[in-house]
Amino acid sequence: MKRLHIRPYPFLILPLAIVMLNCYSQQTDQSTIDRKVKAFLDAHSRQWYDMNVPASDGQLLHDLIVKNNYTEALEIGTSTGHSGIWMAWALSKTGGKLTTIELDESRYREALENFKEAGVDHIIDARLANAHDLVPQLKGPFDFVFSDADKGWYRNYFLAVDPKLKVGGCYTTHNVSARGGRGGNSDYLEFLQGLGNYETNVDSNGGGMAISFKKSEK
Ligand SMILES: C[S@@+](CC[C@H](N)C(=O)[O-])C[C@H]1O[C@@H](n2cnc3c(N)ncnc32)[C@H](O)[C@@H]1O
Repeated sequence: MKRLHIRPYPFLILPLAIVMLNCYSQQTDQSTIDRKVKAFLDAHSRQWYDMNVPASDGQLLHDLIVKNNYTEALEIGTSTGHSGIWMAWALSKTGGKLTTIELDESRYREALENFKEAGVDHIIDARLANAHDLVPQLKGPFDFVFSDADKGWYRNYFLAVDPKLKVGGCYTTHNVSARGGRGGNSDYLEFLQGLGNYETNVDSNGGGMAISFKKSEK
């Protein structure tokens, strides 16, 4: 009678072990980032004095990125990096990168220190530049944008980024009020809501966030 030999497949064991080790080390990397970012945000929760977003808006940006698996993000207006840290944290989970632009050198330098201390500096390309010049020069493409610099330039930023924003992507703008009025950038909101290829809603839980999803190219 023929004996059945069940052989181990040594050539399969090694690749399997490598894949398992890789998964384990990726999980540990992510939990290290999670721990570091949470500790940083907790320790600094009352120390954001440079026109930074409230934590609820940081959480909103984070959740939009994670939920939609965005990976190519742009921020206009870094300040000292509060929103940048929330977005970079989300991008650490999706495997993405953030480009962020700031004009003021001392805020830019403080942001660099904060990014490092929060453990997300490897995810962020921070630029010291005038966004009026740099935004039109950026190649893109992007799938997520947070516009939070000079409000008078909001429409110009949008027009410069729109051709580089992927369909399905999201363009968010801070300090936009659904109720309009002074400081609510109501003309800009009207402009966004008039675009046929975007769907724009406002989240009013924090500082007012216009959230515009790009539905088609034109
Ligand atoms: C509201 S703060 C940004 C807050 C930041 N997003 C946060 O939540 O941490 C606006 C920032 O935009 C910067 N800014 C204004 N005009 C700019 C320009 N033309 N180019 C680049 N940055 C600009 C200001 O210096 C300021 O630091």
